[in-house]
Amino acid sequence: MSTEVPPEVAKRHRRSIASLDRARESVAGGVTSTVRTAARPVPLYFDRGLGTRLWDVDGNEYVDFLLSYGPSILGQASPVVAQAIAAQAARGMTFGSQHELEIEAAELLTKVVPNADRAIFSSTGSEAVAAALRVVRAATGRSLVLKFQGHYHGWFDGMFASVGNSMGTEQAIIEQPVPQTIGSAPGAAADVIAVRWNDEDALVAAFDQYGSSIAAVICEPLNVNGGVIPPMPGFLQLVRSMCTDNGSLLVFDEVITGFRLALGGAQEFYGVDADVTVFAKALAGGFPISAVTGTEAAMEVVSSGRLIHNGTFNGNPLGCAAIIATVSELARDSEATYTRLHALGGQLAAGLADSHPDLAVRSVGPISISVMGDPHNVVRIQDLAGSDDSRQQSFVEGLIARGIHSQGLWYVSTEHTTADIELAIAAAQEILALV
Ligand SMILES: Cc1ncc(COP(=O)(O)O)c(C=O)c1O
Repeated sequence: MSTEVPPEVAKRHRRSIASLDRARESVAGGVTSTVRTAARPVPLYFDRGLGTRLWDVDGNEYVDFLLSYGPSILGQASPVVAQAIAAQAARGMTFGSQHELEIEAAELLTKVVPNADRAIFSSTGSEAVAAALRVVRAATGRSLVLKFQGHYHGWFDGMFASVGNSMGTEQAIIEQPVPQTIGSAPGAAADVIAVRWNDEDALVAAFDQYGSSIAAVICEPLNVNGGVIPPMPGFLQLVRSMCTDNGSLLVFDEVITGFRLALGGAQEFYGVDADVTVFAKALAGGFPISAVTGTEAAMEVVSSGRLIHNGTFNGNPLGCAAIIATVSELARDSEATYTRLHALGGQLAAGLADSHPDLAVRSVGPISISVMGDPHNVVRIQDLAGSDDSRQQSFVEGLIARGIHSQGLWYVSTEHTTADIELAIAAAQEILALV
């Protein structure tokens, strides 16, 4: 199969296109994470990155606003993280045994993350979610998990259900989730129910019906994967109190919001306590390692050794070195760092929003999404019915052609400057003046 594209795209991305064609002969599907097939105008092959800049294999330079879908919070090739990893690599990459960096990493998390009395480690967000669900089921002796429609919690069977294929359709207020890919074990989501985000009545109805069986509620406290849909005022507080009143635990999936909305993540930002919290992405500045933290009570099942949490690479030294470097850097002057991240994010969102009346921009601090034709006020994922896919594609392609790396999702790193933000806004204005 050869990639078909317009001549200007073929010229600008000649080597990326050739690489994709070559990859299809050995990499099943051509890309290594299916979502990347959707990248516009073609899935790009990158050569290197430094700070806020990326260079693809054709030599095109980009200002990076995708941050590898979140991890690169300190920019690409952050010297503090790169040096920490290199120093540890020279001393041994993994031992399959204990080492003191894992204690240091856990101590750091217990210090900066609210309600983190204990931590466990794994390698990816999906794995950490699976571990968190095992913890809450073991801790409560219940099996039912309540998730929200449009919230993504990784690709594992059970959670990869009711994520995105229902956009724009009106769903049952309490839904039996449908797996999102063929090959999912039948019944894997049988002990999961999905409820509309920001729908207080649906939440109360679900607890009325199932309360004594619900082990936990899991949510993205800011629903980034559904389209950057913040919790309505009071909604997270209601979720918290429904959990407390029904003996259920609350899991915040902070794979995106962790170390991004605040040093203490969404728990700190929204002032709502979770029993168990999941981190990946920005946790280690680009190194693949994830963590679950929780209160002493929730984590007792692990602390006591009753719950089995295995993994060859769990708490590996390279990842722990990366966590320590990243979190220490973010904690060094955290007030100034997060004030700046929020200010730059706000400047970017405002500039994008002003560039065209049809460009809907939803934003919370350093996290934004821009969608052509979306309604401006979105409370639930079902409200997203209006987006205009072909104009959105043209917009994203226009950004790439002008050296702005975003697929309509925008993250700000500690390395971005006002000048970078101005470049992005100028590109958006130029593209949108043409439509
Ligand atoms: C909120 C959330 N949870 C979990 C995951 C899964 O993480 P990973 O891709 O590292 O498995 C993601 C990934 O995008 C995510 O956004």
